[in-house]
Amino acid sequence: MEKNGEKDFTSFVQEAGLIWGPSPEIYGGVAGFYTYGPLGKLLKNRVENSVRKTFNESGFREIEGPTVLPNEVWKASGHLDTFQDRTIKCKKCGAVFRADKLIEEGRDISADAFSNDQILRFIKDNKIKCPVCKGNFEEKIEKQSLMLSTVVGGKEASLRPETATGTYLPFIRYYNYFRKKLPFGVFQIGKAYRNEISPRQNVLRGREFTQAEGQIFVDPKEKNNWGPYEKIKDEKLPFWSESEQKSGKFAGKVISVKEALEKKLIKSQAYGWCIWLAYTQFKNFGIPADRIRMRQHHADEKAFYADDAWDIELKLNNYGWTEVCGVHDRTDYDLTQHSKASGVKLEAVRDNGEKFIPHVLEIAFGSDRPTYSLIDIFYEKKTEGEGKTILRVPYHMSPIDVSIFPLMRKDELLKAAEEIVLDLEKSFIVDYDFTGSIGKRYLRSAMQGTPYAVTIDYDSLEDKDVTIRDRDSERQVRVKIDSLREILWGLLKGGKKFEELR
Ligand code: GLY
Repeated sequence: MEKNGEKDFTSFVQEAGLIWGPSPEIYGGVAGFYTYGPLGKLLKNRVENSVRKTFNESGFREIEGPTVLPNEVWKASGHLDTFQDRTIKCKKCGAVFRADKLIEEGRDISADAFSNDQILRFIKDNKIKCPVCKGNFEEKIEKQSLMLSTVVGGKEASLRPETATGTYLPFIRYYNYFRKKLPFGVFQIGKAYRNEISPRQNVLRGREFTQAEGQIFVDPKEKNNWGPYEKIKDEKLPFWSESEQKSGKFAGKVISVKEALEKKLIKSQAYGWCIWLAYTQFKNFGIPADRIRMRQHHADEKAFYADDAWDIELKLNNYGWTEVCGVHDRTDYDLTQHSKASGVKLEAVRDNGEKFIPHVLEIAFGSDRPTYSLIDIFYEKKTEGEGKTILRVPYHMSPIDVSIFPLMRKDELLKAAEEIVLDLEKSFIVDYDFTGSIGKRYLRSAMQGTPYAVTIDYDSLEDKDVTIRDRDSERQVRVKIDSLREILWGLLKGGKKFEELR
């Protein structure tokens, strides 16, 4: 259940046109499927473009593969046999839940590594009841596959549960494209599907979701000879190791990437650089540093393909610390498996002629969780006065750049405003709003998180000036219509400050 003003927050998310569902709403909805409304889709695009920019700036190249692959791929990858969740059933109403999540909800602990007996004991000791009917649970844990299956051309197939596997398959194609030189990085942004047992927490745990996963193919002998590491090794990050997790709560301690490597918290320079890149992405979204931590996976919690594994978690108002990214050293696991199963050798050659199977380092983002996190963290409801709601997202992540308001719904003002809209739409996402009082329109614009609002009044028709208003300071400045595009560009993309306007 969302805590951030509970009902207020849930209705805000729906009414602002951010996220609707479960979809299809008019048929009662299916848990785990959502529709992003116009405002939500703009925000999600900002998130994806930010990830795209970070990967591109770091030398990765984007590809797009199919979302459906034959089951022989998923057999080889290990997903068909091991991609399962542990479930527990309510004795009274028969509802089935993911056992570890039932324990974690509302508690700052990770139950991934709990044995089945530990889970059952925890549920009993803590008197955890069925969230649906408050009944008791059966005293046994079962397993359910997360794969969504289909049939294509008479062959069994599955919707991809991760983009990563599909990214590994064209390895030989990349190897040729990148002139037979390792390392190289490839990323993919696209839908993935998991038949979650009890999808909940809005888009944080959906059955259909968007992943944004980067994969680096590297010679294992070069993992500790990683050029970009030198530049970032002294950066201090909030590493929360397995042993610290066992001995208490996260205390906000930061250590450098170099120190993490020296203490053997991470195994290689290249992996350290990946963790740094993932952390940097969340800073790039504008998430405050005190809401980000990196949590090491427990030895028996790691995914079946992972050697080194850390999650990035964000502290959300509604759900506490929540996983938003996984960084994995997948070693040669995937390329070995697919070489064996396909009969095609997925290998590279060193300068001395030695053949080897490259290792893969993975940064597994999605775009739904960061999008939801931005809403959760920056939603602000003032209860005094008119009960103003603001989506105080950082300006560069705001779904809409600028609102345009003709002071009144009069032909001459509408005409002048529409000319401005047409001009600004070439460079910005613009919301044109001429309904309701100007005060209501300012409130609506702040509720949508829009950094700037421009008002055209009768003086504008004479002096060709308009008023531009800043969302956070609520200050207003008159500027020339002719220079509006340049001014907004400076403010939104050029690092100019509103206070510098006169
Ligand atoms: N590719 C890793 C994951 O889906 O979590």
